[in-house]
Amino acid sequence: MPFAVTTRLMGLDGDGPDRLDEARLQRWTLALLAQGDGENQGSSAADHAEALAEYGEFTTELIRRRRREPGDDLVSRLVQAADQAGGHDDSQDGGIPEESLVYLTAGLTASGNESVAGALGNALLYLLGERPDHWPRLADPDTAERTAERLLHFIPLGDDEATIRRATAPVELGGTTIPAGSVVAISLGSANRDPAVHPEGLDADLDLPLAAPTLAFSAGPHYCIGAWRVRLEMRESLHRLATALPGLRLTTPVADIAWQLGGTTRSPARIPVDW
Ligand code: HEM
Repeated sequence: MPFAVTTRLMGLDGDGPDRLDEARLQRWTLALLAQGDGENQGSSAADHAEALAEYGEFTTELIRRRRREPGDDLVSRLVQAADQAGGHDDSQDGGIPEESLVYLTAGLTASGNESVAGALGNALLYLLGERPDHWPRLADPDTAERTAERLLHFIPLGDDEATIRRATAPVELGGTTIPAGSVVAISLGSANRDPAVHPEGLDADLDLPLAAPTLAFSAGPHYCIGAWRVRLEMRESLHRLATALPGLRLTTPVADIAWQLGGTTRSPARIPVDW
């Protein structure tokens, strides 16, 4: 599902040089999200460097083609927006450097796909492993929607690293004044699990609406642009899968599940099931 949506959104699902297959995106994504020594899923730092060079080349060529022949896809829109902002000539004021456009396009494709796939995998594993009674109830679309929101809220996608902000003006928060210019590290996951606001935690009925809006997608000007996409895909996938396969169940204990660990996501590598 996430791969189909990603390639459709970016216009990478047709025939010809822009066509992207899932194995290639998977390889590039692992390289892009690997951190530190670059070790991930048995690949070496050299494999990652090679994959990143390929991905950069693919995206640079893609942007060139979309600039020449725009289509009704997000890459064409990004190119048009960047060019309207001052052109891809880096010497112009306000222009978006071509390198930034390449990085944004590659990042949106890889991380967009990976984050939704990861969130879906985490949700599915939790539901089948810990809440099998709830599974058939997801055949109700409203229950699927509320459940998706609860799972996105309580299950962190990655290792819950801090979100960084710089205070542009003094601000008082919880009785503490943060002076202008201070750098603040915020834990969105910790706020989402604040027992004063969400005392019931993840154990509550998954059909209950949240007591307060989730911060899983942050807030303010940097609010996640993909939030609508994640919510829609999560709701539809859970609802359709539970409708088609109400008897879906794990065939491996949760403790034996292999995890895929990236720099920003943590999700099951595969979920063995039967129905
Ligand atoms: C479960 C999946 C996802 C989660 C939990 C998530 C979470 C977040 C969070 C917390 C931020 C804000 C970071 C900050 O405040 O500094 C953010 C920003 C962003 N997200 Fe997501 N995201 C997800 C999926 C996606 C997808 C699918 C896309 C694109 C298709 C996407 C694109 C972006 C972009 C471009 C930003 C930066 C926005 C800006 O700085 O203005 N995200 N995301």
